Amino acid sequence: MIAIGNDHTGYALKKAIIEYLEANHIEYKDFGCGEVTTSDYPEFAKKVGKAIQSKECEKGILICGTGIGISIAANKMKGIRAALCHDCFSAEATRLHNDANVLAIGARVVGVGHALKIVDTFLNTDFSKDDRHIRRIQMLEEE
Ligand code: RB5
Repeated sequence: MIAIGNDHTGYALKKAIIEYLEANHIEYKDFGCGEVTTSDYPEFAKKVGKAIQSKECEKGILICGTGIGISIAANKMKGIRAALCHDCFSAEATRLHNDANVLAIGARVVGVGHALKIVDTFLNTDFSKDDRHIRRIQMLEEE
């Protein structure tokens, strides 16, 4: 199950991503927001992050204008590894190396077609499970 969340700037891209998920028979849960004129991105980062922490969802996709605010918010949550990706190389690398469980995208940064390729790459790349990457991910959770 994929958790998806966005602020007001990410609503149109979220709809396109949902169309992609549905076309590919990928289950998702939409944590908002809907079509509104303003909203606060931390609210949706927290909802998606909590869904992953509770294991209700396996991965998440977060969208704001730049992808920056919403990824900062998500990365403050224990166990959340949110990667801001605006290219497919990064989306692949962050799954392979960081086992990122959240993809953040800036709706004002990339076009819809490119964003969908990034989503596809992120969702279809497995963690490498290399010892060195496991060690580094464990270190992320240390105080
Ligand atoms: C909203 O105007 C904008 O600040 C937000 O979508 C995001 O880009 C923040 O990082």
